[in-house]
Amino acid sequence: MAGLKICVIGGGSVYTPELIAGFIAKREELPVEEIVLMDIDVERLNIVGGLAARMVRASGAEISIELTTDRQEAIADADYVVTQIRVGGMAARALDEKLPLAFGVVGQETVGPGGFAKALRTIPVMLDIARDIERLAPHALLLNFTNPAGIVTEALLKHTKVNAIGLCNVPIGMKNMIASWLGKDSAQLTLDYVGLNHLSWVRGVSASGQDLSAQALAAAVAEAKAGRFPFSPELVETLGLIPSYYLRYYYHHDEALAEAKKSEKTRAEIVQEIDAELLKLYADPKVAERPDLLNRRGGAYYSVAAVALISAVHNDKGEVHIVNVRNNGAIPDLPDEAVVEIPAVVKRGGVQPLRGNPLPPSVRGLVQAVKAHEELTVKAAVEGDERSALQALLVHPLVSSFSQARGLWQAIKEANKAHLSHFAKAL
Ligand code: G6P
Repeated sequence: MAGLKICVIGGGSVYTPELIAGFIAKREELPVEEIVLMDIDVERLNIVGGLAARMVRASGAEISIELTTDRQEAIADADYVVTQIRVGGMAARALDEKLPLAFGVVGQETVGPGGFAKALRTIPVMLDIARDIERLAPHALLLNFTNPAGIVTEALLKHTKVNAIGLCNVPIGMKNMIASWLGKDSAQLTLDYVGLNHLSWVRGVSASGQDLSAQALAAAVAEAKAGRFPFSPELVETLGLIPSYYLRYYYHHDEALAEAKKSEKTRAEIVQEIDAELLKLYADPKVAERPDLLNRRGGAYYSVAAVALISAVHNDKGEVHIVNVRNNGAIPDLPDEAVVEIPAVVKRGGVQPLRGNPLPPSVRGLVQAVKAHEELTVKAAVEGDERSALQALLVHPLVSSFSQARGLWQAIKEANKAHLSHFAKAL
């Protein structure tokens, strides 16, 4: 069989060496012939691409690394397309993180008004990429890492014909964390995991048919008491579920807001410093492996999810992966077309979400409210519709009044002018 072509849009990302390491490690089961890295930033592309080529050479793998700024050339006839773009770069992220603070709302690149602004900038570009895939690689599978990953994937599945799956490293991170609490090997664990991207809970844990839910919950409470799990232990006991990290911005909003207001730098500014150091390392011709410094980025090990998923599809493994997919009734409390983050059976022919139980009332309202926010955000971005944008902010659980929603919208519109030309009427 002919080798696979992988296309990475946003290939100049500092995360790319991880993907390369993942494909090298899995080359026995995944016959990748060509990896095309596409980016609009030529300087980064050359630095990251240089390291990618050295990594492949050092491993002896027969994979060719191609670099291009031409998106269509990169996509043409690809088997898998990975998207990892950041529209507006880190400067726009810094604004997403800062701007909501003045309105008494936490600033975060994927949660609340920050995630909303990022979605409005990103969805039109992702739809353009999807149009290229429809034309030039209609059989390709698109793996989307671009944040906010759930909202972006919902836009792709609702408005294009592309076969897209949204991926995040939070599920794998949760699995590894719980496995380490229980002294188990992560590969042994099965999680009953439910929710949306960056709004998810583990409600059950098992290993080889043995129910470990009570032990896992007790461990979460103990870790929280020891200050190693960033939630109040009483909250975890009250919920009876293990929340994923991003729920901190909801359950402990006041503390998160106070911390953000106090800190001298935004996460975007810190990340820019880490990236500058990383790029210096990548440019060194003696470096031919993924540096440990990459562990300081939150998305470290995302390639484990990506490469394992591609292999599951290619080899028709029928494995269960936790991914962002069309709900199709799996969570009965949400619309069929909503994108949710849940376990799904992965086969060559497609990804089938596992049917779950209804959401417990303790989380149902939050999930439904955030999903309504996401649905309205997609509508706003696709139609350039200001009313939907305002409604999206209004229904978000972290936004508490109409005047706050209106103030946020005015500020977001102004700050993101360069990227919101689809809101022509509103600008
Ligand atoms: C986590 C999230 C990703 C996010 C990353 C941010 O891994 O799941 O969605 O992109 O953190 O990390 P950063 O280093 O950019 O703050």
